[in-house]
Amino acid sequence: MHKNGLQVAIDGPASAGKSTVAKIVAKNFNYIYVDTGAMYRSITYKAIQDGIDLNDENKIGDLLKKTAISFTPGNPVQHVFVDGEEVTEKIRSEKVTNNVSTVAALPVVRHDLVKRQQDIAKDGGVVMDGRDIGTTVLPNADLKVFLIASVKERAERRYLENQKNGIDVTLEQLEKEIELRDYKDSHRKVSPLEKAKDAVEIDTTSLSINQVVDEISDLIEEKLKTNKN
Ligand code: DC
Repeated sequence: MHKNGLQVAIDGPASAGKSTVAKIVAKNFNYIYVDTGAMYRSITYKAIQDGIDLNDENKIGDLLKKTAISFTPGNPVQHVFVDGEEVTEKIRSEKVTNNVSTVAALPVVRHDLVKRQQDIAKDGGVVMDGRDIGTTVLPNADLKVFLIASVKERAERRYLENQKNGIDVTLEQLEKEIELRDYKDSHRKVSPLEKAKDAVEIDTTSLSINQVVDEISDLIEEKLKTNKN
């Protein structure tokens, strides 16, 4: 057990419901919620803003060195800042979404952000969601969860989310984008999306948010109990 509680890792493909449930679980246990995808999105946003070639590893590495990414709590969403600029909504744009896998595949980016994530989680009391948390960022996490859902279900979730945000993309297009992102995230050379051997897999396709939250909360309670004994 770490100073402030457990390290909980929640991984899985795009739109499997990770951030929604991770946020609620963190709140219920009074843990910090860390959305690592938002960190990859933030540097992608910044690189696009600065007109940097997204495949230019050196330039993006330099950019990272001078870029601060921070979070402040908020309801229903956490606020994200890049060098003091609020980017909470901007990092969810289609442009960032469709380019983030390219930037997230660069070793220099992974190296830098993984270090920042490990630093945030070192004292525990944290629920961290991403793709490689259980495998690379926190290989000794107290609890590892891997969430999955069908492509169709995930596209439908994104569609509803987009409608709320006034983003107009067809379901078909979203299914294609999700498949492409899954492919890129699972096939990159450095820490690809992969289920850790000791992760508990939960298929959220036909589950409600509350059901998933309850399952994870039960797992956390169990861990807390065994850690006490
Ligand atoms: O969870 P998300 O959709 O906001 O993540 C955005 C992108 O960042 C996703 O396509 C893959 C990448 N990512 C990653 O490579 N590693 C993480 N730990 C989190 C996200």
